[in-house]
Amino acid sequence: MKTERDSFSSKFGVIAAAAGSAIGLGNIWKFPYIAGENGGGVFLIVYLVFILLIGIPVMMSEFIIGRKAHKNVFGAFRELTNSGFWKIIGVMGVMAAFFILSFYGTVAGWTMEFLILAITDSFSGRDAHEIEQLFSTFSEGAYKPVIFQIIFMAITALIVIGGIRKGIEKYTKILMPLLIVIILYLDITAVSLKGGGEGLRFLFNPDFSKLSPKLFIDALGHAFFTLSLGMGVLMTYASYFQKDTNLTSTSVSVAMADTIIALLAGIAIFPAVFAFSTEPAAGPGLVFITLPNIFELIPGGYVFSILFFLLLAVAALTSSISILEVVVAYLSEEKDISRTKATILAASAITVTGVLCTLSIGPLSDFLIFGFNIFELLDKVASNILLPLGGMLISIFVGWKMKRHIVIDELSNYGKVRIASIHLFMFLVRYLAPIAIFFVFLHGIGIIKI
Ligand code: PFF
Repeated sequence: MKTERDSFSSKFGVIAAAAGSAIGLGNIWKFPYIAGENGGGVFLIVYLVFILLIGIPVMMSEFIIGRKAHKNVFGAFRELTNSGFWKIIGVMGVMAAFFILSFYGTVAGWTMEFLILAITDSFSGRDAHEIEQLFSTFSEGAYKPVIFQIIFMAITALIVIGGIRKGIEKYTKILMPLLIVIILYLDITAVSLKGGGEGLRFLFNPDFSKLSPKLFIDALGHAFFTLSLGMGVLMTYASYFQKDTNLTSTSVSVAMADTIIALLAGIAIFPAVFAFSTEPAAGPGLVFITLPNIFELIPGGYVFSILFFLLLAVAALTSSISILEVVVAYLSEEKDISRTKATILAASAITVTGVLCTLSIGPLSDFLIFGFNIFELLDKVASNILLPLGGMLISIFVGWKMKRHIVIDELSNYGKVRIASIHLFMFLVRYLAPIAIFFVFLHGIGIIKI
């Protein structure tokens, strides 16, 4: 079914929506916990190098393909090439979307529960250990986390049914800057905590003895996850870009905003982890068991805790709608199902897998595949395999398959803006990004060792 294609109403709307997809639980929930699991500072360095040398060029590549083809990820490759091979990017993208939204909904559900705990003033008077207890009792339960997940998925589906501009642009513009202000306030408090300096050292002082194949794979996977890359989300958004959107500066702005928020989250969390003697490698519960301790200390903590969890849920929502959009675009544009039906179908199926993720924290925690519970498995497969592989193919497509003059036209807006260095860009997408991704894989599965 052909629906008329919407476009973003302003340049800020474009950046806000792409940033809204990139900035989410990945920055505030996931970045601190996998940095914590991988030794802090040295993870940060590898991750930043990957963002710069792989993330930004792959994002520019998604933008080039999306705006040129004016289509979703499947239609795009059909439009730009006769070969059926590139369909694989779409297939992996839809799988990744399905997997990611499954566990994303779990964590978004936790966020909603913590919002309610904040509203009911349930953190006050509890010490760090009791807050940890509060989190594990709740997240290991069989009903409450499932109910919140279903509510979250229903809200996501309703917004996706509403369409692009109305749905996405409106919410992102006002709320994201507010989230930054609150995190900054948490940073100031965290840094001045007694013992907080140790947390900053953990985050910023690299200990190179911690380098490992797992660290490289985790850092690469997280670079893709946090920037929403490798599965066609930003490609689909770019198909709604206007002709004068500068693809290079938009990529750099989105990557910078995303990185700054992750760093600000880290600066709030690690000093608190050390000041309250909790565990930096606490895993997925890290942000939930750490930040309530700070809220207890700051003036206005009650109000700020409510605002924080509310805005975190909104940040999760602007990302989850972009993930659901990939599956919906696939079903509605490729399988001829109406948008509303496609959304209901996709959201329901994802909720079913999502509930299994949620239960894998508690009741199903003994059910392991390759040593991982369902939650961890879907995260690893999507973030560390599907997204980087998708990114590798996307950069190869732009580097080797697309006509160079098309790449130049898109990057320069048909001669209207200067391209900083087309040679550097071509080097990154032809050689560096694909080879580096390939190398990290082989290293990760133990085929090569350094
Ligand atoms: N980038 C989002 C975050 O950091 O929370 C998560 C995400 C959104 C991953 C969209 C992948 C994606 F396609």
